[in-house]
Parts: sequence; C-alpha cells; structure tokens
Amino acid sequence: MSDKSFDRINRRLTLLYLSGNTSFTIVTIILSILIGGVTFTGSLIAWAKLSETIPGKPYLFSGQRVVNSILLLAIITLGVMFTNDPANTTYLYALIGLSFLFGVMAVIPIGGADMPVVISLLNSYSGLAACAAGFAINNNILIVAGSLVGATGIILTNIMCKAMNRSLGNVLFSGFGAVSTTLEKIEGEINPILAEDAYYILEAASKVVVVPGYGMAVAQAQHVVKELQELLEENGCEVSYAIHPVAGRMPGHMNVLLAEADVPYDQLIEMDDINPRMELMDVAIVIGANDVVNPASREMESSPIYGMPIINVDYARTVFVLKRSMASGFAGVDNPLFFGENTRMLFGDAKESIGKMIREFE
Ligand code: TAP
Repeated sequence: MSDKSFDRINRRLTLLYLSGNTSFTIVTIILSILIGGVTFTGSLIAWAKLSETIPGKPYLFSGQRVVNSILLLAIITLGVMFTNDPANTTYLYALIGLSFLFGVMAVIPIGGADMPVVISLLNSYSGLAACAAGFAINNNILIVAGSLVGATGIILTNIMCKAMNRSLGNVLFSGFGAVSTTLEKIEGEINPILAEDAYYILEAASKVVVVPGYGMAVAQAQHVVKELQELLEENGCEVSYAIHPVAGRMPGHMNVLLAEADVPYDQLIEMDDINPRMELMDVAIVIGANDVVNPASREMESSPIYGMPIINVDYARTVFVLKRSMASGFAGVDNPLFFGENTRMLFGDAKESIGKMIREFE
C-alpha cells in the first residue's frame, strides 16, 4: 500500500476519532487488521504446505508458545497504543506487520495432515475480518455477509474436528505429524493385482463401495470412476461411494469432485452410515485414499492417528487399493491395510488403472 493510501486511512481514523464514535470503531479496525493479517499469511503457509512448496511437517521449536504469547501481547499493546493515538501511523504499520507474523507463527506448527481443518478455520476468520471491517466502516451488508461466512466456517471446522475425533486445540497445538511409525512394525505380505484380474472380481460383485481420497483428485479420476460405476450398474451391481469428512485436502473435496462427474448425490454415503454396512460389500475400491482408511486408527494404540475415525474398508470381502506406490499418506503414518489378507494392491495412477478396468468391461 502506498504512503498516500495510508495517509487517507490515517485522515479517516483521525476524523472518526474526532467524531466521538471512536473507541468502538478503532477496536473493530484493529480486529479486522489482526484477523485479516493472520488469515492472509496463515492461508499462504497452508497453501505452501499443501502444494509442498514447503515441507508439510509441523515446525516446532522449544518456547514456541512463549514466543506466540509475547507476539499476541505485543499486538494487544500496539492496539491499545493505536487506540489512544490513531494519528500515529507507526503503530498501524507495526500492527499490520505483527499480525502477518502471527499468521505465520500460528500455522507453521500445524502438520500438513491437519490443513483441511486449518483451511476451514481460516475461511471462518476471513468472514470475521470482513464482519469487523463492516463495523469499522458501518456497512451492514459486510457485517451480515462476514458473520455468515464466519459462522459457517466455525460450524464446518467443528464438524471436521469431530470427524477426526479431536478438539480444535489439539489440531492447532499438538504438532500432529511430527512423529511417524515405520513399516517394520507392520507384518504381512503385499498382494499386488493387475487391472485385468481385478475386473473378474468386479464382474462377479453385486455390491461395490468406492472410497475416494486425495489421490483421486491428483489423478483427476472422478470421470472414469463415474464410467466404471455405470458399467458396474449395467452389470447388475449396486454401487455406493463412502465419503470421509476429511478425505482429500479441503473441506468437501470429494463431494465437489464427484458432483463435477455427475455422480448422483444420494449415492454418496457418509462414514457413519456406510461403516455398519461395510461387511456386506463384495468389493471396496479405495481410490487414492490412505489416512482415512488406515486401520491403525482403530488397532494400533502406539499410532499417532489412534482413535481417529476411519472408513472400515478392511471389513469388506475384498479391498482394491489403487495407488502408485507403498508411500504413506499425508499424515506420514504407515498403513496396515496394504498388508491385509483380503487386500489387493493395484499399483499405478488411479485414472489409468480404472481406465484399464473399464476397457476390460467393454
Ligand atoms: P492421503 O492420506 O494423503 O493419501 C493419498 C494417497 O493418494 C497417497 O497415499 C498417494 O499414494 C495416493 N495418490 C497420490 N496420487 C495418486 C495418483 N495419481 N493415483 C493414485 N493414487 C495416488 O489422503 P486421504 O486418505 O484422502 O486423507 C487425507 C486427509 O486425511 C489428511 O489431509 C488428514 O487431514 C486426514 N487424516 C485423517 C485421519 C483420520 S480421520 N483417520 C488420520 C490422519 C489424517 P502414492 O503416492 O503411493 O500414489
């Protein structure tokens, strides 16, 4: 922002101050700067972690909370000083700078695996910043729209935390993902399968559940998944989709992709509804999902993801896991599902693997 813009803001603040309606207005200005600044740099860090521009692991150092508390204290002190002397732009610059820094400091200790929750929370913050700005400039539309975005974001954040069986405090402060388990702890053999052989099992199946995850988004496989669904249905098979609330990297990621491919909404079944029916499924096709189907969450108390709800694909008669390698998911935790007796690993890009199965059907 140029010096002229700041001068304009400065003049407006002085006018507000002189017009007598000040303290409340200036507090809302400070709030919108603080929340807006945190949202801006926090979102940049979340983007960098998701795009792997920076490593997704949590950045932790000793005394981190003390540093953050001092930062917050400095912001509050500056806010008070700015309220007392709104004509002093130094306070304004410092407030903006520290808010940006606070956004970075708030998001770097959070692991990439928790980014869907962070994005939802930052989305909510952006609404609250707009709402505070609405109070500052006395604009009712901004106040209403901002509070709606803020409230829906908080509701979504709450839903996602519940889906991971964690509190918001745990997501924000636990540094989840800093430690990972090793493959040696998991016993069993991997059973690879070719798409051509997977076809024979699918052809004989009467109930199939598709479990999409982040890999489906990477492969852009949603359209071929829909094609496979149609072929299976023509073959007399009942197809459903199991949607984990945090599958993928964003809130509602899987729902959006499947809607784009015109998958009927009533075939999308939520985790709590599909899990009791999993034993009835002939085949569960896991397409680029990993953390959200990891039985370690249920069985391995030593695992960092222990206690987090999953889609119990391992209860289906046969499980196909479509992925490119044995790499772990975003949480960096190894997956015993891949070694299950009823699991068949279909290695390769998900879109190509499904394409091959479709060609066999045709
Ligand atoms: P991830 O666990 O990140 O796994 C995605 C998988 O997709 C990877 O293992 C990757 O394996 C595969 N993949 C990538 N590109 C592919 C392609 N082109 N074709 C086929 N496979 C591909 O994803 P998810 O299961 O959707 O879960 C992600 C979210 O779950 C995380 O962000 C985290 O928030 C959350 N989480 C949930 C729990 C719960 S609730 N139990 C626990 C931890 C984390 P390859 O590289 O081998 O292909």
